[in-house]
Amino acid sequence: MKGHALDNSRGRTTKDGIRIFDDADFIGMRAAGQLAAQILDEVAPLVVPGVTTEVLDGFITDRVAQSGAVSATIGYRGYQHASCISVNHVVCHGIPSSKVIKDGDILNIDVTVIVDGWFGDTSRMYVAGGLGRKAERLLEVTHDALMKGIQAVKPGATFGDVGAAIQTFVEGNRMSVVRDFCGHGLGRVFHAPPNVLHFGRPGTGAVLEAGMFFTIEPMVNLGRPETKVLADEWTAVTRDKSLSAQFEHSIGVTADGCEIFTLSPGDKFYPTFA
Ligand code: MF3
Ligand code: CO
Ligand code: CO
Repeated sequence: MKGHALDNSRGRTTKDGIRIFDDADFIGMRAAGQLAAQILDEVAPLVVPGVTTEVLDGFITDRVAQSGAVSATIGYRGYQHASCISVNHVVCHGIPSSKVIKDGDILNIDVTVIVDGWFGDTSRMYVAGGLGRKAERLLEVTHDALMKGIQAVKPGATFGDVGAAIQTFVEGNRMSVVRDFCGHGLGRVFHAPPNVLHFGRPGTGAVLEAGMFFTIEPMVNLGRPETKVLADEWTAVTRDKSLSAQFEHSIGVTADGCEIFTLSPGDKFYPTFA
């Protein structure tokens, strides 16, 4: 996109209900994505054995406020925190609490901020203390699965191509893709069409066009894919208690691929625990 005159001719919605954004809108998404990614960079040194997830969330709450941004999750469907923190067998939507992080725990921290009305949504995995061999493989496969999905993004490809790229890779590594949660369109709203499935068949689903904004956020389990939501109505866990991991980027489709809005400014997206 850089170096081109701004193309502001694209404001419309496809037959699948997917909004097509203008080049100027990429600037807004870049700012929101970069703030979310910067906050995830800054929280990394705090993830050590003995810290509680509410301390991590408190740091994130403060950083969002100091930046003059707004948390997208506080007040969203009754959710009350600036992050979701999902530890070990928690798949997603873990609620920050007085739970103490232990040596060897793996955790996903998911932050969504609103900057000038634009939503930046990203999550990545952290490790407290030593990393076990199986957990290390899970994190690597999950990160690489996200990047395989992103590599499939270009105009003319389908959302089924994206899902298939992720599913084929994950299952080829004898792990499973969670079916119960998906990525989503975003922009000036948090969750918009389409549902971005992390599994599927090539050539199926809506066709990608330049100017679409959405997340890809695969959740991968070491065991079976089934999940259940706990009585708090948020926390999703693996039914078989196996370890689960997730990485998430917000992206925009460009003429020849995509721009990742939530790239880590400090190149800490993966691994954060080196
Ligand atoms: N950030 C999550 C996503 O990737 C949504 C969290 S909603 C919350 O879509 F309310 F649980 F925070
Ligand atoms: Co998301
Ligand atoms: Co998210």
